[in-house]
Amino acid sequence: MNESKTNINWYPGHMTAARRKMQEDIKLCDVVIELLDARIPGSSKNPDMDDLIGNKKRIFILNKADMADPQVTAKWVEYYSSKGIKVLTMDSRIRKQTLAVTNAVKEVCKDKIERDRRRGIAARPIKAMVAGIPNVGKSTFINSFVGKATAKTGNKPGVTRGNQWIRISKDINLLDTPGILWPKFEDQQIGLNLAYIGSINDNILELNDVTYNFIEYIKDNYCNILVERYMIKDVGDSNEIIAKIAELKKSIKKGGEPDIDKTCRLILDDFRSGKLGRVSLEQPLQ
Ligand code: G4P
Repeated sequence: MNESKTNINWYPGHMTAARRKMQEDIKLCDVVIELLDARIPGSSKNPDMDDLIGNKKRIFILNKADMADPQVTAKWVEYYSSKGIKVLTMDSRIRKQTLAVTNAVKEVCKDKIERDRRRGIAARPIKAMVAGIPNVGKSTFINSFVGKATAKTGNKPGVTRGNQWIRISKDINLLDTPGILWPKFEDQQIGLNLAYIGSINDNILELNDVTYNFIEYIKDNYCNILVERYMIKDVGDSNEIIAKIAELKKSIKKGGEPDIDKTCRLILDDFRSGKLGRVSLEQPLQ
């Protein structure tokens, strides 16, 4: 890892407020649907949630599964399932996934449904909170049920939205919540992983450092991408690779020097927009 400046730690004030609100709202819900990014299903999981959730039911959705390495995603599904958590994988841009989500919600809430039935209580819709880090796809997920107008999407991490209830079927109401991160990352790799996928505002990052570390990872795990996408013949030092990509992309300053800042942005954009193909950035612990 490039040791120099990569120290991603901060906590925007509005997220403290959002966390407090979430703590209150969880009390109203029967189940929490946590959207994780399928490329980083460990790093995108809010460690605070384990406490916040208490004994509420929980479902994980590995979203953007279309961008992740399917073999690695399968391992994550197995990993979380082995911990007794209901897990679905999803590309939220595809509509009509209502049935899979409805069935999962009903499955994890079956005790409550049965209890209500035994007590003769008229079926009350299940209340499900949708939670996840900025940019994980919460709005897209909710919109996939109800159409574009309802939940506003935005690709800027940290954009807060008002919490609102959305009815997705006669049995289920979803509560939309703003994306939150947590005050301190247990290890810097988590911060880097969140930076790679664009869930941390780029303006507070040393993007050259982030990109250097990204290339290091790709070199070790998806070397073929460098060869196929960027026509790198000798995969050597990561700084040299970035300079070669600058040449390829004609990202050159006036004096003829490679424009490294611009190239780093281009590389991250390529990854975030899926142009590098399906990449997973972490494996579950064995
Ligand atoms: P958020 O509410 O959690 O902050 O996330 P949001 O739904 O705004 O989604 C952030 C970006 O991720 C959007 O792209 C959205 O289209 C994309 N996205 C969401 N779910 C998926 C998925 O399952 N697969 C893929 N490939 N992309 C997904 P954008 O570029 O910001 O906006 P747009 O150009 O799609 O409008």
